[in-house]
Amino acid sequence: MAAPRRVAVVVGSLRKDSLNRKMAKALAAMAPPTLSLEIVEIGQLPLYNQDDDASPPPASVAFKEKIAGADAVLFVTPEYNRSVPGVLKNAIDIASRPYGKSAWDGKPAGVMSVSPGAIGGFGANHHLRQSLVFLNMPALQQPEAYVGGAGDLFDESGGLKKPETKKFLDSFLAAFAAWIERTAKAPG
Ligand SMILES: Cc1cc2nc3c(=O)[nH]c(=O)nc-3n(C[C@H](O)[C@H](O)[C@H](O)COP(=O)(O)O)c2cc1C
Repeated sequence: MAAPRRVAVVVGSLRKDSLNRKMAKALAAMAPPTLSLEIVEIGQLPLYNQDDDASPPPASVAFKEKIAGADAVLFVTPEYNRSVPGVLKNAIDIASRPYGKSAWDGKPAGVMSVSPGAIGGFGANHHLRQSLVFLNMPALQQPEAYVGGAGDLFDESGGLKKPETKKFLDSFLAAFAAWIERTAKAPG
């Protein structure tokens, strides 16, 4: 069997008890054998400053290398004020520069937004997709993943409480795995 595709999972919340992080961990635990999901942390990153492009801070270099080494990227993010949290946008900007040397270029992407609210972070999900167009990341379209009511999804140990959530996540991961095979560069 071919080696699993390496998927960098970027979580848009730094909160200790983040629902999005719980979701990312649940997805990693249930991923099919063709995918290997690993959270790539963003909380240690400095604020992006274009003056540093010639000599970026070590934390930014390390983050960019991790993204560059992945076959695909899965964003799991909350919605802040109907958009993407600043920490996530900062991470995206860091790995996109210097101009012409983006680590995101060509990598298949999945987008899941997770919110306790009813509309499941739709605004963040679609604002993020706007950046993915410019970053040249082919993004999975269906199934759309606006996960609402997330305050009631996980038990105390982070397990999924409802079989229908697991069913949906299984279908999302299967579609994402197929999407990666269609759009990713050959494993290297
Ligand atoms: C600054 C801020 C802005 C927020 N704006 C929204 C919003 O626009 N839509 C929404 O559904 N939830 C919003 N929320 C609530 C978040 O969805 C909620 O805090 C969620 O648990 C954050 O994700 P996390 O649990 O992964 O940290 C906001 C929260 C914060 C702190």
